Amino acid sequence: MSTTEGAKPRLTVLGTGYLGATHAICMAVLGFEVLGMDVDEAKIETLRSGRVPFYEPGLPEMLQKALESGRLRFTTSYEEVAEFGDVHFVCVGTPQRKGSTAADMSYVDAVVSGLAPHLDRRALIVGKSTVPVGTAARLTSLVQSLAPAGTDIELAWNPEFLREGFAVEDTMRPDRLVFGVASDWARERLSAAFAPMLAADVPLVVTDLPTAELVKVSANSFLATKISFINAMAEVCEATGADVQDLAAALAYDNRIGGRFLRPGLGFGGGCLPKDIRAYIHRAEELGVGQAVSFLREVDAINLRRRARTVDLIRAQAGGSLAGVTVCALGAAFKPNSDDIRDAPALDVARLLQEEGAIVRVYDPQAMDNARRVYPDLHYASSVAEAAAGAQVVALLTEWDHFREIDPVWLGELVAKKAIVDGRHALDQFAWREAGWDYKALGRT
Ligand code: UDX
Repeated sequence: MSTTEGAKPRLTVLGTGYLGATHAICMAVLGFEVLGMDVDEAKIETLRSGRVPFYEPGLPEMLQKALESGRLRFTTSYEEVAEFGDVHFVCVGTPQRKGSTAADMSYVDAVVSGLAPHLDRRALIVGKSTVPVGTAARLTSLVQSLAPAGTDIELAWNPEFLREGFAVEDTMRPDRLVFGVASDWARERLSAAFAPMLAADVPLVVTDLPTAELVKVSANSFLATKISFINAMAEVCEATGADVQDLAAALAYDNRIGGRFLRPGLGFGGGCLPKDIRAYIHRAEELGVGQAVSFLREVDAINLRRRARTVDLIRAQAGGSLAGVTVCALGAAFKPNSDDIRDAPALDVARLLQEEGAIVRVYDPQAMDNARRVYPDLHYASSVAEAAAGAQVVALLTEWDHFREIDPVWLGELVAKKAIVDGRHALDQFAWREAGWDYKALGRT
């Protein structure tokens, strides 16, 4: 097969989870020939049949468009990927390793080792996964030793900042692009692969491989720190009778601080922030600079304390003991507009409540199937009304719009006792109190 060097590169995407599926679909819509690859046959079949295997607003429509264009195909074969592609994007997960805080690199290593032996012409492998700094250098040696094309295969790093729930928007119009490259050729290839974004004046930072790797973990560490900062202030507010919501609003008017990621409450979860800060601490310690990021341990600890504190509030609302108390738990996903329950604070709270003897009835607009699979022992309701019927405490744990819009008068008629803990500062406390509810929120008395 002839190469397309100099022209529009043919792209492959290894790993079709949140990141990879979104990237493959969006790149095809933007006009590239794209081949998506995954070792999971079922996932590939689902995508081929035009269905997205997870909940992500807007993505199913984009998949239809991409498939209809004829530019997007899927495979499970490394050989086909190597044959087809000029630029290969690595989009597999790097979860927290079992029994350790380090990142589990086995999926990245498996993909690269699976692909490399088939690479017999010049090509660029681009890592998008979040990895410990130094990974690109290690993978360069590995790939060049395994590939028939040897040193004609280069590595680049292009961190991805997409947020679940906004994946399409963040992929089509990212805040910035970062190219970590080791040569002008790699920079040219990446520029060709991102030509539509660059033409739309998306800011670009071109840098070396380790810097590009660090950008991602630094960004997530900063965001996690900002959330934990306001949640630490919430703890002080609780001890002093101050109101963290008003405090956050006042801080946000300072442009240097800004209001984004300053929402107090139950704290962060998901497949990125918690495991990324832990992996960063681990890697920094390996490199002998652990002290530089030791504050991230505190960021993690503050975040986890919010979950325990939410349980305390719910217990207090139940009159001091959770044994036999029915709790209506609104939310399971780690954040709204997602069905992702990885490290979900909501489900952690539900589990802790159940451990203390509460009967927990969970309802979430999208994450029920995932929650049921991982926490089969919780009770699940098919609506807010069913979850609330006869409950002694209501706990709002994920701030879906559907929950924000609940009429407190209507809900008040369903429950046994009008006691609510707003774990996400999502409700209008005055409206709820007006309707006769005992309203409690973290960082607010
Ligand atoms: C995050 C980063 O935002 C994204 O750039 C990166 O690519 C992946 O990790 P995501 O995990 O999708 O994205 O979720 P995000 O919107 O960042 O929220 C993370 C968590 O923080 C959620 O649990 C959310 O509820 C919580 N959060 C967010 C707060 O508690 N307070 C806030 O002010 C903001």
